[in-house]
Amino acid sequence: MSSTTTAAPAVTVQKLGGRIGAVVSGVRLGGDLAPETVTAVRDALLANKVIFFRGQDHLDEESHEAFGRLLGTPVAHPTVPSADGRYSLGIDSDHGGRANQWHTDVTFVPAYPAFSILRAVVIPPYGGNTLWSNTAAAYAELPEQLRTLADGLRAVHSNDYDYVSVRPNALPEALEQYREVFTSTKFLTEHPVVRVHPETGERVLLLGNFVQRVSGLTGRDSRALVDLFQSHIERPENTVRWDWQVGDVAIWDNRATQHYGVDDSDTHERKLRRVTIDGDVPVGVDGRSSTLISPEAVPDPSFGIASGASNAEAPAA
Ligand SMILES: [Fe+2]
Repeated sequence: MSSTTTAAPAVTVQKLGGRIGAVVSGVRLGGDLAPETVTAVRDALLANKVIFFRGQDHLDEESHEAFGRLLGTPVAHPTVPSADGRYSLGIDSDHGGRANQWHTDVTFVPAYPAFSILRAVVIPPYGGNTLWSNTAAAYAELPEQLRTLADGLRAVHSNDYDYVSVRPNALPEALEQYREVFTSTKFLTEHPVVRVHPETGERVLLLGNFVQRVSGLTGRDSRALVDLFQSHIERPENTVRWDWQVGDVAIWDNRATQHYGVDDSDTHERKLRRVTIDGDVPVGVDGRSSTLISPEAVPDPSFGIASGASNAEAPAA
């Protein structure tokens, strides 16, 4: 064997906006990346919150998951079965589960995923874009009085929400089927409204469509406050919008973003695959951790390790 090494192609990071989003070039994703390439990808991810890779058509379920292992431990969705008995979850237009509400993935459990890795398999001829928002930037732009207010709040998140009001145009049978699977276990988790990011130290707003109410407030006061903070998350300056092509991969820091799948491709098929990487239990500005209210523990899914299960029962000291 030759002792010379082939120089890896340079990894380039091109920002899409001032606050969020970058395209990363020079990386062929898979389970065999050099450690310095993994470091470059992770750095770009933490800095830009969501990063995009074009032309990753070579990926399949196995190499998608193998790449995920370079960022952490893949975890199964707590209630929705994975595609083909692997960690990869199908995000398909025909399952009634279009994510056209602003949300952070799986916040109804305490240690919700740190990263999500989404791969485009079938893309409609038009529409079907995804938007992401930087929840650290949304917090940072708040006036000091509102940051202080948010710092002291906690909110209850649940996977059992009003699906009909969120998806008024969905077929009732599709909606009911999705609801039955998605809420086969009903979770209630209390999180701080402001989380201290475990890697960057940034303060981020932790809200999204799984929020039921702000702890200790009436429904009306709670809704007004959630809307107030959520409106900063949804401001266009804090967002980036991605127009998918087949073979694209998006990776986002699920601890510092919300996202929204735009439901505007009529009846055209849209099929993506998602691998999520285990996160840790959030900690608020006051040092208090998130707590699982019910059930007593995150049950084991039909396959693999559940998101949130690894840390939920034994929070770090
Ligand atoms: Fe999502």
